Amino acid sequence: MPIAIAIDGPAGSGKGTVARGVAHALGYRYVDTGAIYRAVALEARRRGVSWDDGPALAALAGALHLDFVWDDDVLRVVVDGQDVSRAIRDDEIGTGASTVSRHPAVRDALLALQRSLGARGAVVMDGRDIGTVVLPDAALKVYLDADLDERARRRHEELLRRGENVHLAEVVAAMTARDRQDMERATAPLRQADDAVRVDTTALTVPVVVARVLTLARERGA
Ligand code: DC
Repeated sequence: MPIAIAIDGPAGSGKGTVARGVAHALGYRYVDTGAIYRAVALEARRRGVSWDDGPALAALAGALHLDFVWDDDVLRVVVDGQDVSRAIRDDEIGTGASTVSRHPAVRDALLALQRSLGARGAVVMDGRDIGTVVLPDAALKVYLDADLDERARRRHEELLRRGENVHLAEVVAAMTARDRQDMERATAPLRQADDAVRVDTTALTVPVVVARVLTLARERGA
């Protein structure tokens, strides 16, 4: 039976990689909700809308034409016909996504879209509030976490791979600020749902975490 799987956790916890691996193994769709908030932050920047202007951001979010398109094994994010997959991965846009996501009106404007993407089941959706708000009835909820140092190390490695020359200390500082902003906001803050299974990925490899989530999914009928 196809089920919905919600995966939440802080930046660098391995959510995206694990969610993609689980979706691939089960033949489910993968929905990256962070990409949606990132697309709003990027589009706001392009149109000169401030990341602090809640009403203008909500209007922008509500009118955004967003598509997820599979290109071989790569999931592309397309906004108004333009592929923004790479542009939304900049660390600055990650910070912007965290800032725009604080506004309740922005979250409201994006809720129906996220629910519609998860409505038919057979989906793995990752984010910050999937198990608590977006898909509260998901058959499986997983909360991935890892020590700050390890999460920062992973992100730093990823940035170096992309040719971005940043210091590890800067990554630690940015990640700490983003965690705080995501956990302390008033609406739908990052937290583990009461019925979520917590997996600490600090000392685990990706295949081991994927296998653990797949076991949990099969126990729930996937
Ligand atoms: O997972 P990510 O790093 O791509 O997410 C970017 C930001 O978007 C994150 O710091 C907070 C926000 N976000 C959110 O508030 N709710 C979600 N479900 C997903 C992301």
